[in-house]
Amino acid sequence: MKLVKTIAEDMAGKLMRAVQYDSYGGGPAGLKLIEVPVPTPNEDEVLLRLEATSLNPLDLRIQKGVARPFVPRKFPVIPCTDVAGEVVDVGSSVVKFKAGDKVVALLNPLIGGGLAEYVVAKESLTVPRPEEVSAAEGAGLPIAALTAHKALVDVAGIKLDGSGPRMNVLVTAASGGVGHYAVQLAKLGNAHVTGTCGARNVEFVKNLGADEVLDYKTPEGAKLKSPSGQKYDVVVHCARDISWSTFEPNLSDTGKVIDLTPGPSSMCTYVLKKLTFSKKQLLPLVLIPKEDKELNLLVRLVKEGKLKTCFDSKHPLSKVQDAWAKSLDGHATGKIIVEI
Ligand SMILES: NC(=O)c1ccc[n+]([C@@H]2O[C@H](COP(=O)([O-])OP(=O)(O)OC[C@H]3O[C@@H](n4cnc5c(N)ncnc54)[C@H](OP(=O)(O)O)[C@@H]3O)[C@@H](O)[C@H]2O)c1
Repeated sequence: MKLVKTIAEDMAGKLMRAVQYDSYGGGPAGLKLIEVPVPTPNEDEVLLRLEATSLNPLDLRIQKGVARPFVPRKFPVIPCTDVAGEVVDVGSSVVKFKAGDKVVALLNPLIGGGLAEYVVAKESLTVPRPEEVSAAEGAGLPIAALTAHKALVDVAGIKLDGSGPRMNVLVTAASGGVGHYAVQLAKLGNAHVTGTCGARNVEFVKNLGADEVLDYKTPEGAKLKSPSGQKYDVVVHCARDISWSTFEPNLSDTGKVIDLTPGPSSMCTYVLKKLTFSKKQLLPLVLIPKEDKELNLLVRLVKEGKLKTCFDSKHPLSKVQDAWAKSLDGHATGKIIVEI
């Protein structure tokens, strides 16, 4: 006779609190706190009890319907992808984790699931979280820090150990979720960093390590002109609606603008620059993470005190509408966290 229940049997039929929406649009008021069954992990997944989730502008755009009809795949949707928590169960083929392990994970953006007490995550995009890294610090990392890392390391070729040639880097919206990681990573790569932000965040961006800071609401800031006359080798463009004609005079001969939110105009510039073999380029970037290597590295940098997650605000799950409204506002300084 079997006396001990497996974890899966123990969790089966249990309900959890979660936040979901059931149609496009609706903003914060479209989010409803409900109870749904705890999910069961597939063979390559881990079941996590969540401690913290961070919001990204993408989560809100998906609700607005920018990726319809492909994302979300179906309603209702439990949104958000960037999570930290503790493993409570593992699928049959999982080898890296066991119950009790603290982790950070990136969930599939097509599915989400992060605004809930429990979620299943792929083992391949889950990484261990050492005790020095809090759940909130870990949850800030996945999309924002991976995007900053991809732009600087994979596209621009910066080496985070500082062993590469010194580059001049401009980070637009350096005070935001992606931007604040980009400034810090570029400094690790020994770059000269200029950041743009609003007046209230100038000290914040300097404290991240930026060598020069431009207030984007001043005429000089709007022109992106470096106060010391630097020409940028790389622009990590986290803001929106800045034209190529504004970037172009500020770029070095082989300067690259890496556009994180490419629209029709930047796609045209991208094609034009390619077709004309221009040395100055505009490169659209879309993050498609496939493995855990970079996320592991980012968690390690936080553990070693070389990278920090700065918090705009922290909200309990019951006040998720406040967090959503804050993100919609577009004025976050660092990351917006929901604590679960
Ligand atoms: N391609 C990808 O794979 C990918 C991945 C992640 C993010 N993204 C995109 O990258 C963008 C940035 O994401 P995020 O998470 O960093 O956003 P975020 O945290 O919401 O950014 C908010 C910050 O941007 C600042 N800001 C807004 N407009 C600015 C401007 N013109 N100049 C300087 N600063 C400005 C705001 O400062 P004030 O409050 O002073 O205005 C605020 O501090 C979003 O459009 C997001 O969708 C793309």
